Amino acid sequence: RTKVTINELYRLRSSSTPITCLTAYDYPTAMLSQNANVDMVLIGDSLAQVALGHTSTNAITLDEMIHHASAVTRGAKTPFTFADLPFGSFEESVEQGVRSVVRMIKRSGIDGIKIEGGKEIIPLVKKLSDMGIAVMPHIGLQPQRATSLSGYLVQGRSAEAAAELYDTAAQLKAVGAFALLLEAIPHTLARHITESLGILTIGIGAGPGTDGQVLVITDVLGTYAGPGAWKAKFVRHFGDAGAVSRGAVESFVQEVRGGGFPEVGKETYAMKKEEWSKFL
Ligand code: KIV
Ligand code: NA
Repeated sequence: RTKVTINELYRLRSSSTPITCLTAYDYPTAMLSQNANVDMVLIGDSLAQVALGHTSTNAITLDEMIHHASAVTRGAKTPFTFADLPFGSFEESVEQGVRSVVRMIKRSGIDGIKIEGGKEIIPLVKKLSDMGIAVMPHIGLQPQRATSLSGYLVQGRSAEAAAELYDTAAQLKAVGAFALLLEAIPHTLARHITESLGILTIGIGAGPGTDGQVLVITDVLGTYAGPGAWKAKFVRHFGDAGAVSRGAVESFVQEVRGGGFPEVGKETYAMKKEEWSKFL
């Protein structure tokens, strides 16, 4: 398969082929998506929590995002790659946002950028789109605002909130966004946005009516057990790599302590007898 382009993503949408997207934070997690032929790879700022141990995504810096995104693009050659613009790297002005995005693209080689926000990011989305940069606004639940939202709560549940979300989506499309990320909104609303706005949508906690599905890789693998680990309603663990990993580490500890590792002959290097005698 050749590099996944925006045209290819829209072709998948037209043929009603659900688009697959997973997060990646380093070379090995990028290779999981590369080898499974995943369509899109997101360097999510969730890496602040699931790879760096912070309690909020707001802790990660632009340069830390670049450091991880660079490793991901070395592994994910075929998928369309995009990264989160982290908290603090775009709020001051359109100029600050453009500077951050250009720095991230230049240094990490990602294909596109994801920006959490609502109507307040319209000027930045327009500027970036006008410059030819692929922008995916992230609407609905925005984890960078978890404090002011009083937690990771479902968005757009009232008729009024749904209308506001729909209007925001329409305006973001109008200024040039190539896709939308919809997080934790009613599945009926997500389907409605997807079908009536004619823009590519990737959903998480937004039901089966979006063009694609994204999940955090550690949730898919069942490996994350760090601070604030909890399973949202929309998460499915597709495996228990965490149990497998813990088992391997426990075996290592047991075997070393019990003298079972390493085994002479099988796991060691030998010296010729005459060399050994000379040495002695
Ligand atoms: O940071 C992230 O991983 C994300 C996805 C959950 C959409 O934003
Ligand atoms: Na994110």
